[in-house]
Amino acid sequence: SAAEKGGHDYFMLKEIAEQPQAIADTLLGRLSDRGEIVLDEVRLTDQDLRDVDKIFIVACGTSYHAGMVAKYAIEHWVRIPCEVELASEFRYRDPILDRSTLVVAISQSGESMDTLMALRHAKEQKARVLAICNTNGSTIPRESDAVLYTHGGPEVAVASTKAFLTQLVACYLIGLHLAQIRGVMYADEVAAVVEKLQQTPDSLRTLLGRMEEVRELARDLKTASTVLFIGRHVGFPVALEGALKLKELAYMHAEGFAAGELKHGPIALIDEGTPVVCVVPSPAGRGVMRDKVVSNIQEVRARGARTIVIAEEGDEDVRAYADHLIPVPATPTLLAPLMTTVPLQVLACEIAAARGHDVDQPRNLAKSVTVE
Ligand code: AGP
Repeated sequence: SAAEKGGHDYFMLKEIAEQPQAIADTLLGRLSDRGEIVLDEVRLTDQDLRDVDKIFIVACGTSYHAGMVAKYAIEHWVRIPCEVELASEFRYRDPILDRSTLVVAISQSGESMDTLMALRHAKEQKARVLAICNTNGSTIPRESDAVLYTHGGPEVAVASTKAFLTQLVACYLIGLHLAQIRGVMYADEVAAVVEKLQQTPDSLRTLLGRMEEVRELARDLKTASTVLFIGRHVGFPVALEGALKLKELAYMHAEGFAAGELKHGPIALIDEGTPVVCVVPSPAGRGVMRDKVVSNIQEVRARGARTIVIAEEGDEDVRAYADHLIPVPATPTLLAPLMTTVPLQVLACEIAAARGHDVDQPRNLAKSVTVE
């Protein structure tokens, strides 16, 4: 009913709107008086975590995209090698695991069979397993050595939205926790990142207030035969996530690429009018990544692409290359997916609705996939 959807047309829109609160709830009480990050259930000692020499993140679908973002943050902050792997592939390639390997299993439902089987395989090889999960008492956290719950509240729509953003927050917290107990980050450095995280709900509210243009754009794009998404660094998983949302909801062909890979093949797909959604990194710092992405945008535009550019507000230089510009509030580079993902969620939802699809219950999909 409309009441259940909080006045929104779809659960998905309700859940998109709930994201600022979901982030705030996931952050609540995570920084102790002693300046330490607090996880939920940790049946591992600090020494166990100090002994970790390699991290594997395993997950499926959208949760896998959260894991891809986590790799950038964890390696940057913790300085431990971190690999991300699709849970459905993990155990079949006989990964090298031992007592000093930390496996992080990310799952909204806590019941995805692929992720559960990857976790069991890791445990058989004596690896430590830490779960990031949105569902209290579900199987994956029950079978893990430690848990960090995302406090996103129940997610009803099949397409994951608020669970994804809270998974990102959980990944950042785990990275900060590991960095702190291993002595690579000081308490004040951790507190500075947490403070930036605490500002994201407000920034996100501002962003959500400006989605009218994205809605208009959706009506324009509903007949496109393909939509491409490009990004670099943490913008790459955001591009993959934007494409996945469009596939699952609008049943349209969509693909996400690392912007730098375009010239190695995919640029051949660009034709007159092909929509390309470009996720632009922040111009902060030396802006090297941003400049690279901007030249990738020029390359696709020179071949006829219609560019939809998601960039930090105030980055006026990108305007010249954008057929549509979607500005997002400024955020530190590693945290940017908390902003840049959101217009892509709205875009997919609105395109699907414009095409007359059941946004909350897309065909052929289940909310939690309990078969391998
Ligand atoms: C996301 O929109 C999907 N419906 C799907 O990819 C989902 O993220 C995946 O099945 C993993 O689910 P989980 O997080 O509950 O394990």
